[in-house]
Amino acid sequence: MTDQTRIPVKPEIAQGASLDAAGFQAMTERARQDPDGFWAEEAKRIAWMKPPTIIKNSSFSGDVQIKWFEDGVLNASVSCLDRHLEERGDQTAIIWEGDDPGTDAKVTYRELHERVCRLANAMKALGVKKGDRVTLYLPMIVEAAVAMLACARIGAVHSIVFGGFSPDSLSTRLVDCESVLLITADEGRRGGRKVALKTNADEALKSAPLVQNVIVVKNTGGDVPMQAGRDHWYHDVTEAAPRECEPEPINAEDPLFILYTSGSTGKPKGVLHTTAGYLLWTAFTHQHVFDYRPGEVYWCTADVGWVTGHSYIVYGPLANGATTVMFEGVPNYPDNSRFWQVVDKHQVNIFYTAPTAIRALMRDGEGPVKKTSRKSIRILGSVGEPINPEAWLWYYRVVGEERCPIVDTWWQTETGGILISPLAAATELKPGSATLPLPGVLPALVDGEGQLLDGATEGNLVILDSWPGMMRTVFRDHERFIQTYFSTFPGKYFTGDGARRDEDGYYWITGRVDDVLNVSGHRMGTAEIESALVAHPKVAEAAVVGMPHDIKGQGIYAYVTLNAGEEPTDALRKELVAWVRKEIGPIASPDAIQWAPGLPKTRSGKIMRRILRKIAANETSALGDTSTLADPTVVEELIENRVG
Ligand code: WTA
Repeated sequence: MTDQTRIPVKPEIAQGASLDAAGFQAMTERARQDPDGFWAEEAKRIAWMKPPTIIKNSSFSGDVQIKWFEDGVLNASVSCLDRHLEERGDQTAIIWEGDDPGTDAKVTYRELHERVCRLANAMKALGVKKGDRVTLYLPMIVEAAVAMLACARIGAVHSIVFGGFSPDSLSTRLVDCESVLLITADEGRRGGRKVALKTNADEALKSAPLVQNVIVVKNTGGDVPMQAGRDHWYHDVTEAAPRECEPEPINAEDPLFILYTSGSTGKPKGVLHTTAGYLLWTAFTHQHVFDYRPGEVYWCTADVGWVTGHSYIVYGPLANGATTVMFEGVPNYPDNSRFWQVVDKHQVNIFYTAPTAIRALMRDGEGPVKKTSRKSIRILGSVGEPINPEAWLWYYRVVGEERCPIVDTWWQTETGGILISPLAAATELKPGSATLPLPGVLPALVDGEGQLLDGATEGNLVILDSWPGMMRTVFRDHERFIQTYFSTFPGKYFTGDGARRDEDGYYWITGRVDDVLNVSGHRMGTAEIESALVAHPKVAEAAVVGMPHDIKGQGIYAYVTLNAGEEPTDALRKELVAWVRKEIGPIASPDAIQWAPGLPKTRSGKIMRRILRKIAANETSALGDTSTLADPTVVEELIENRVG
């Protein structure tokens, strides 16, 4: 089996599927010919208080306006909870698997509904109103899903900050969206270690004066200070709250959440998603991509701090009445067989993870996988970064025993849900290709000038028209939204990714073409890491680029120029790594720091990152044109002292 392999849909997978190959083709055609009719029909898959009469109203030009179902009224929590109560109130909604293998819990739809209502009432009692922003800084515990849905219940807009982010990163995000409430926990658990969430939160709150209240989940029972009047225990406020909470009527285009994500420049952007289109998109894609069938156990290993957790642990699966697994731990704790043990324990049917996890596990060989059964798995998924054919084939052969299709799902925080991906029961697979667009998605490739490219070719990946789940704006900065996504190629949504399209129209995503890094599936801007580095008193200048990394996909390579008189020592190198971890979080730790007496700059002072990327990748024989450099000798110096 090679990366040229084609894997047709197996009859046993296609049988009984909601969408087979012919169904997929027909649906794609219908969505193309009559988008309004198609999406009006699809909109019935979510619960409305007032169904929409206007379907699509969007433009990628000028001011860029994107509206879907704009006169509809709904509440996302009703689609995820209330409407399931009659038919499957006693079905498990969430299986929680703790970091420690001895711990787990099952929560039914009825219990989840009650917990959401109680927290929603508790938030109201603290004065939180529709439209207010609420920040969640939580571990992977059931309360994270409860808090998201409780916000949705009262029309508050949640903003989740990944539990691995530093106090500084948390406070920037609290301040930017003017959160009035923070929901956190005493501590989190990950890989046998504790994460000091409340302590970090206290630090962050010093510079986030608008936060009036903090709700704290007692998770580990660790001793944490509580500030009277501001901090409240979750169990106290929820036990005191009524168990029923009327869902707030929400307009289709009212915001559901903000999620901060990194771009090529500046500080992270508050990507804003609204209610109906997003919910519909997550439900639609979750059903068809994974061929989710009622009663199945579905597990996405992401963290709710990232968009994958939002769309494919919480909103999509719960809207579809699925049983969704929430995993607090990591793939290699207590040992590297953990994923597969959890699969067997909970009889997981659909398993969705990131290439970085596959590559890390692959390094440990087949043994840890083979000692488990995995017979329950029907469908495998991949998300977050390009999956190399070698990892794809290992996942297919060893984990899925050539029985389970792999859906390699391409999408972004901005897209709300999957845009390019095989459908488990409908698409012939090619290892390493995200294959074809979903119905209603119009991708295209353009050259550097924005000219559309035809046929089998390679170029910049753009999307030509809007789909219901796409982001609507950057929170309170519509200009930045237009600038970031619609100005490079006017009239088109620019993804920031490059891609190749083959003779069959299949897409092969090649990765970011901008200054965004993807480290172990975590998205980071080089500018953020650079500004953390230059905030150190001994650093004069820094340039950060990605470098190829066997496990992480990309590693972080930093070139650092020290202030005059500072000694470039190994101790300082360690100090800078620790500094970046403290400033941003452990996920941003540089893998390599090279002392750079000078950086390659053009005569106008612009750093030539292209050259720095080549040096980091050790591709120094093909540096390209260096004649425009102000001082070409710095390049030789950098090549000579390359690290790693
Ligand atoms: C990359 C994660 C190749 C891509 C859902 C994109 C992928 C960025 C894939 C978004 C995939 C995501 N194949 N690349 N299947 N999925 N990416 O916002 O570069 O954290 O632009 O969303 O991840 O990362 P984000």
